[in-house]
Amino acid sequence: MRLTNTITLLVSAATATAQQTCSLPSTYRWTSTGVLATPKSGWASLKDFTTVPYNGQHLVYATTHDTGSNWGSMNFGLFSNWSDMATAPQNKMNYGTVAPSLFYFAPKSIWVLAYQWGPTAFSYRTSNDPTNANGWSGVQTLFSGTISGSSTGCIDQAVIGDNTTMYLFFAGDNGKIYRASMPIDKFPASFGSSSTVVMSDTTNNLFEAVQVYTVNGTSPQQYLMIVEAIGSNGRYFRSFTTTDLGGKWTPQAATESNPFAGKANSGATWTNDISHGELIRVTADEKMLIDPCKLQLLYQGRAPSSGGDYGRLPYRPGLLTLQR
Ligand SMILES: *[C@@H]1O[C@H](CO)[C@@H](O)[C@H](O)[C@H]1NC(C)=O
Ligand SMILES: *[C@@H]1O[C@H](CO)[C@@H](O)[C@H](O)[C@H]1NC(C)=O
Ligand SMILES: *[C@@H]1O[C@H](CO)[C@@H](O)[C@H](O)[C@H]1NC(C)=O
Repeated sequence: MRLTNTITLLVSAATATAQQTCSLPSTYRWTSTGVLATPKSGWASLKDFTTVPYNGQHLVYATTHDTGSNWGSMNFGLFSNWSDMATAPQNKMNYGTVAPSLFYFAPKSIWVLAYQWGPTAFSYRTSNDPTNANGWSGVQTLFSGTISGSSTGCIDQAVIGDNTTMYLFFAGDNGKIYRASMPIDKFPASFGSSSTVVMSDTTNNLFEAVQVYTVNGTSPQQYLMIVEAIGSNGRYFRSFTTTDLGGKWTPQAATESNPFAGKANSGATWTNDISHGELIRVTADEKMLIDPCKLQLLYQGRAPSSGGDYGRLPYRPGLLTLQR
């Protein structure tokens, strides 16, 4: 009898370990790598990273800016370890997919690359082989709306799905975060031209680079939004949570002194800015799934002494790992 109980306890303990879940911390503390890669000849910066797991390796797309005045985009050849990003091939794209978001749309088994500055506010292309930087379809409309009170217009889309609905979130460099949605059965297609303001604050507090994720292992299902802010010590991310992607967001780690990620808590020494990037996802699909037990953020940073033309600021990738 005693032996049976002991075995039962051991089995439950093993099960508990295998299914260990974490909740998001209220105070984030990270360690950072140094610069993970420098742009190849002709490019001044690598920016706005989006990344998915692909066959056990990392697949990364980014915005580029050349040494003149041109924006563009690229992907990295697959690599297994972030320390190998430095030597991964940098593949120039023949069409600019600026501020890209890459995901696998599981219901239709197709890869989607969403981006800004196409013919309409947001565009997308599809592919069966996302490793091929120049293997994407022709341009399709993702969103054709406009916003007021913004010098940039719609900027920095984030696309995410739950079981029934696809959502498009975006920013406007104007203190507002917007949302549009459509039934998941209709995707991939245009979200149309109308949107709703879901958050409103000062321009600096809700600037750009919004990203939205499903937090794995939470019940009720929790979602995390991060938004890039302009602080007195550089760019930083504020976080918000909700249990309904179509609902209201609650500030989480949302100040410059207690940010989601910024100079105050990044551990990075080579950059003050913790700027536009992506949390490392556990699956590539439209749920944008993250593991709260193993949070990592691929971000763009730059030497604090750098300055001058915005497009030529020497942004490079770095990786934060959450300390537990
Ligand atoms: C990745 O590379 C680092 C540095 O070379 C090494 O310490 C680490 O063990 C590697 N990780 C994996 C998963 O191979
Ligand atoms: C979505 O569907 C999955 C798989 O059917 C299910 O496990 C999950 O609970 C659903 N999520 C919600 C929020 O209903
Ligand atoms: C999500 O978390 C559950 C535990 O709650 C785990 O069993 C599952 O493997 C996780 N899913 C992924 C894709 O990592």
